[in-house]
Formats: sequence, structure tokens, C-alpha cells
Amino acid sequence: MKTYIITGATGGLGLSIARWLAKDPGNRIIIAVRDTNRGQAIATELGGNVEVAELNLGSLSCVDTFVESWKGEITGLINNAGVQIVNETRFTQREQLEETFAVNHLAALKLTLGLLPFLKGGRVLFIGSGTHNPKNRTATLFGFRGAKFESVASCAKGLDETGSMRQMGMDRYATSKYLNMVTTIELSRQLQKDQVAFFCLDPGMMAGTGLARTAPRMLQVLWRHVLPWVARILPDTSTPERSGKIAAWIVASKDLEGLSGVVFSFDGNPSRNVWDKVFDSEIGRSVMDDSMELLNTLR
Ligand SMILES: NC(=O)c1ccc[n+]([C@@H]2O[C@H](COP(=O)([O-])OP(=O)(O)OC[C@H]3O[C@@H](n4cnc5c(N)ncnc54)[C@H](OP(=O)(O)O)[C@@H]3O)[C@@H](O)[C@H]2O)c1
Repeated sequence: MKTYIITGATGGLGLSIARWLAKDPGNRIIIAVRDTNRGQAIATELGGNVEVAELNLGSLSCVDTFVESWKGEITGLINNAGVQIVNETRFTQREQLEETFAVNHLAALKLTLGLLPFLKGGRVLFIGSGTHNPKNRTATLFGFRGAKFESVASCAKGLDETGSMRQMGMDRYATSKYLNMVTTIELSRQLQKDQVAFFCLDPGMMAGTGLARTAPRMLQVLWRHVLPWVARILPDTSTPERSGKIAAWIVASKDLEGLSGVVFSFDGNPSRNVWDKVFDSEIGRSVMDDSMELLNTLR
């Protein structure tokens, strides 16, 4: 059996990835979720090769517990879970880290590093987003300004940017997705000898998922019921089904053997919409060093 771990597979893209991978009876899929009752219902629906594990990425000690109890080889880890918080500034309970940064970047990095010994010959997939790129036309149309990265420390405290609460939440989200991309490239640079391949997917805008749950009510209605239809005519838009299939291909396909450090678009090609700064090795090294230092101080 090939074992795949997918974080945040209770809906949206994560659920779609689980569906695609579960089609192969030779795969064992662990859906790592914070709501295990919902996870159990999904596992029952998807079939006998899907198991549930508890993982709340808003708690670094929960990540530790998950890693400490893990046994066995992993073929693919998919860091899919993510939040976009636009109605307030939220901090994680114990470590008091800004939640978008904590869940989307820091906990995913900690999980990845903790599971590395089990990933020999395997793949790690981070989920990025076109919103990181200030030049992405679809993202700017929806009000994103691109990543506003100053330092890991300032992200951890909540970026002090100008703008409305909603704008700050969008900036934090775009910045966390930028960090996912930078992390992918930097880990592939630093850990080539460990025989683990790192990839990132920009899944495109997938209207209708749970991502907009903190948006104003009217926007939520648009996101769920109108945009999935309108989005078809916009560039850089996809669906959880389409992007989930590509994500499953990235972690499972023999076509990618020998490759690492590629950011894919949801069409299955290397993305042409990645901001140059994602590939800056000085930024990559400092993001990694500062994130590791922060993780060490929070032990
Ligand atoms: N939708 C888009 O347009 C879009 C575009 C680009 C990138 N993405 C990325 O795609 C990924 C999936 O997003 P989505 O659109 O499918 O949104 P979604 O439907 O809201 O899915 C997000 C998943 O993350 C989980 N999650 C959130 N906080 C968590 C935590 N503290 N611990 C564990 N799991 C947690 C959620 O679980 P609960 O059900 O328990 O909340 C849910 O399963 C995210 O990384 C997002 O940034 C989405």
C-alpha cells in the first residue's frame, strides 16, 4: 500500500484530493482533520482505504502528538489545510500566533519536518495561491494586493498593514501562501540529499469552497452560489475537482520522478504566474532559518 496524508480534507480541495487518491485500492489515505466526526463520515463515504487521524494545525502540540504517534512509510504528504480570516485578527490559543500564519505556514512546516524521516523517496505537496503575486490579475480583481512579507516575526504577531480588517486578512492570507511557495522551493534546495521531493500547486480560484467562511454574508452567498458559474469566464479559475485531480497526480505520478521544487498550475504545467521573489534564495534561507528559530522557541 502507498500511504498518503492529506491535511484538512473535510471539504473543498482536500476532500477532492482524497476522493481522487481513494479511487486506487492500492492507496491508503489518512485524512488528518480537526473534526474527527466529520472525518469519519467522509472516510465511510469514500471507502475502506481511507482512515481518519486527529490534527488541529492551530496547535503546535497537536502537530507534535500527530508526528510522535506516526509509524510507517509515507508516499505523499499534502499540506492542504488553510484558512483565510477576514473578519477579525485571531491568535492561536497556546502559542498566541496569528492564526493564518500559524495554520497555513508554521504548522505545515513543523508537520513536514517532523514527518521527513518517514518520507524517504516520497513527495510533499504544499498548496499555494495566485493571491501571493501582486501582478496576478484575477486576484487583484478580487481585492488582493499580493504578499506583504516583512519577516517571520512580524507575520507571527499579525501584519501591521494599512487598510480595513478585510484587507489585512487578505494580505495575511496572500502572505501565508507566498510562504508556502517559498518553503517549497527552499526545502527542495536544502533537502535534495534526503530523497524527498517538494512541490507546490497553485490550484486557481475555486469558488464555492469553505475558504470564504469569514467573509461578509453577502460575499459568502456570491462565493458559494454565483461565482462558481461566473468564474468560468475568468482566467486562473478552477474547481476543487479539477485541481484535486492535479494534486493527486503530483503526489502519485511516475511522470515526476527525479523532479523537485516545481510550482504547478492547476493545468498540470509549471505555473507561469509565480512572483520572482518566491525563487530568491536569500529570502528562502531567512524564511526557513527564522521559522525554525520560532519553532524552537515555542517548544
Ligand atoms: N478556494 C480557493 O479559491 C483557493 C485558491 C487558492 C488556494 N486555495 C488553498 O486550497 C486549500 C484548501 O482550501 P479550500 O478552498 O478547499 O477551503 P476549505 O473548504 O475551507 O478547506 C480548508 C480545510 O482546511 C481545514 N482547516 C482549517 N483550519 C484548520 C486547522 N486549524 N487544523 C486542521 N485543519 C484545518 C478545514 O477544516 P474544517 O472543516 O475543520 O474547518 C478544511 O478542511 C487551502 O490551503 C487554500 O489556501 C484555495
